[in-house]
Amino acid sequence: MLERSPALSVAGDMGAPQRHDSAHKHVAGEAPYTDDIVAPAALLHAYLGLSERAHAGIVGLNIDAIRAAPGVVAVLTAEDIPGVNDVTPVTGFHDEPLFATDKVTCHGQPLFAVIATTRDAARRAARLAEVIYVDLPPVLDVKAARGFGTGFVAPGMTLTRGDAKDALSAAPQRIKGRVTMGGQDHFYLETHVALAVPGEDGDVTVHSSTQHPTEVQHMVAHVLGVPFNAVTVEVRRMGGGFGGKETQGNLFAAVAALAAVKLRRPVKIRPDRDDDMIATGKRHDFVVDYEIGHDEEGRILAVEATYAARCGHTVDLSAAITDRALFHADNCYYYPAVHVTSEPWRTNTVSNTAFRGFGGPQGMVGAERFIEEVAFATGRDPLDIRMLNFYGEGERAVTPYHQVVEDNIAPELVTELERRSDYRTRREAIRELNARSRIVKRGLALTPVKFGISFTATQYNQAGALVHVYTDGSIHLNHGGTEMGQGLYTKVAQVVARAFQADLDAVKITATSTGKVPNTSATAASSGSDLNGMAALDACETIKARLRSFAAGKWDVDPAEVAFLPGRVRIGSEEVPFADFVCAAYNARIQLSATGYYRTPKIHWDRQSGRGHPFYYFSYGAACSEVAVDTLTGEYRVERVDILHDVGRSLNPAIDRGQIEGGFIQGMGWLTTEELWWDAQGRLRTHAPATYKIPVASDRPRIFNVDLWDGENREATIGRSKAVGEPPLMLAISVLHALSDAVASVADHRFCPCLDAPATPERVLFAIEALRERVQKGAGQ
Ligand code: MTE
Ligand code: HPA
Ligand code: MOS
Repeated sequence: MLERSPALSVAGDMGAPQRHDSAHKHVAGEAPYTDDIVAPAALLHAYLGLSERAHAGIVGLNIDAIRAAPGVVAVLTAEDIPGVNDVTPVTGFHDEPLFATDKVTCHGQPLFAVIATTRDAARRAARLAEVIYVDLPPVLDVKAARGFGTGFVAPGMTLTRGDAKDALSAAPQRIKGRVTMGGQDHFYLETHVALAVPGEDGDVTVHSSTQHPTEVQHMVAHVLGVPFNAVTVEVRRMGGGFGGKETQGNLFAAVAALAAVKLRRPVKIRPDRDDDMIATGKRHDFVVDYEIGHDEEGRILAVEATYAARCGHTVDLSAAITDRALFHADNCYYYPAVHVTSEPWRTNTVSNTAFRGFGGPQGMVGAERFIEEVAFATGRDPLDIRMLNFYGEGERAVTPYHQVVEDNIAPELVTELERRSDYRTRREAIRELNARSRIVKRGLALTPVKFGISFTATQYNQAGALVHVYTDGSIHLNHGGTEMGQGLYTKVAQVVARAFQADLDAVKITATSTGKVPNTSATAASSGSDLNGMAALDACETIKARLRSFAAGKWDVDPAEVAFLPGRVRIGSEEVPFADFVCAAYNARIQLSATGYYRTPKIHWDRQSGRGHPFYYFSYGAACSEVAVDTLTGEYRVERVDILHDVGRSLNPAIDRGQIEGGFIQGMGWLTTEELWWDAQGRLRTHAPATYKIPVASDRPRIFNVDLWDGENREATIGRSKAVGEPPLMLAISVLHALSDAVASVADHRFCPCLDAPATPERVLFAIEALRERVQKGAGQ
């Protein structure tokens, strides 16, 4: 066993750069994930049988060969479901069966599950099914969906302010264009996995790698046809979620639970990497069509745009995701007149889902393209256009959803990063360098981020916690948030340590469980520490209030004279060690356990009218990226990145820095090398690392300066901190624009390259060739 690190023993250290509570176990391979739970006796293994067609009727399913295969114990189909054959995660919709029956609507859709004595036996047998399909034409992308008129998975949304049509026709200059961006596989290191253990009376406990234990509980209960209280879902940690485990774990948990209850034996299911990539949803790819009006200086006057997303074959979270794209269609910029609409198209592809940023990044890529277009149209530096269009005061502070931006630090923060990154000097240096360098061209871009914090579905903005103080002074902490590597457990433990002035390692971090804290929200929307930190603090304050009044009575002092100090309590002029003090409280029959609760104040949202105050506050950041592009091959390197990011008053600067670096790199992967590719039959052909290229250590920027903005949240969040999970991903838009800048240099910055994402070397090369052609044509005229 590993020694516990002494770094954890600092009393009341909220705000300190503590290491992640499991960091030493992560690096030593000792942190137990769901698949590492010691196998219960009589464990069976499940594997899914997946559709081999993207769109087809099913007229026959022969599983005799599977049943006869070695090790096979059972084959489960829709007929074996005692409850409902439905795992749709959003209310009001029922379009996602656990097992398809008479038709399949995407390649990789589950048809049945094989249960066997070993995982290998289950996996091999799953291939032996004879399925008789009647092929139907698959609709694979937005273009085809528009052509076929397949319709939306849920109603779209419109945000509007002012008269965009009028403002467009009155604008001195107008630009029409399109930007497209690809999807992204989550590529969490731990694939989906669930282990179900049957209990008495048909109850079941499910260990699930999920960001949303309560939803897994609900889905399992629906499928089994039992009340929620018959199902307990537990998760100690995930090996990454990134949004991919907000809803997509439901399937695996439901299959494991179904088999476990039916066979009265524990059942585990873990798809291999390829099947995880084929059968579970990804980030939505988008097509954004825009028309912008602006003046001669580059001030935006009007924006009209449509945000079309490939949602896949079921609704999943696509409505909320395409909504969030619209909520970030402005990024940091004021549009005097605006009309933006979302189109969540249904397609015969895997159902796209939450991914870090939740549609926000896609909306923001649109906004930054608008800026770039205006910069080229006016011949000005894109950074100047950005600054010219920032939100301001009065009417210039109103968003397309009519929330007023009250905490706008983008202008200050960007000005500071411009200085720290030496943007202007480097801009000049790069101009000179590019004039001299024939093949390798450099590019530079500085882009800002403003990200709205709160679930836009207002009811999710609540959380609960459970805190016990034991009579030796040690503390047991539980809350509704899940740990996926982002450090939430550490941050909330720091909050509790601070509240009691206890050593951090006196606070026991425990697995999230629907049996301890009920009715939880997904750990998502970056709100984990905002919500659960506050709920845990509430529980601590309840216990402290009881202790304070106990002390005041017993020692006959004013409650105000009771102070919690590191490891002890001062009561009047006397000091008592914390353990002795709580023991005395117990003997006086004072309750040392409490639940805590929090709901976010100030927020409201009316989707129908497109008006409200959906976000409690905004998190800000900016990044300046420099790239070098080989204009003969399109290959490139990220040479230097400077980041200045706003986390308010940090709960833990070490963890926040990790989130910023990781988020940036993940965003860079999305916008550069990660390309999903489906063939004409709707089969994902990039379903393994051999063909799907995520960033590796050597892709890290050569120079990588990350700084935290020195400020605090103006809203009363936990410790005046700000959410950090998702916003840094969007800092990577600076890399896309730096690449575009390098590409533009081959035509002397006369034309906007309109570089789409992912800007793979191939796409960069095509953009370069297109510009060179344009220059030649121009010269030939
Ligand atoms: N960081 C790590 N290491 N692993 C993850 O899976 N998920 C991201 C982000 N950072 C993730 C991560 C996403 S999508 C969200 S919404 C937040 O963490 C969720 O956690 P939080 O609300 O506690 O920040
Ligand atoms: N963000 C992330 N996850 C969500 C949201 C959101 O706004 N709404 C529902 N699930
Ligand atoms: Mo994060 S996409 O909100 O799980």
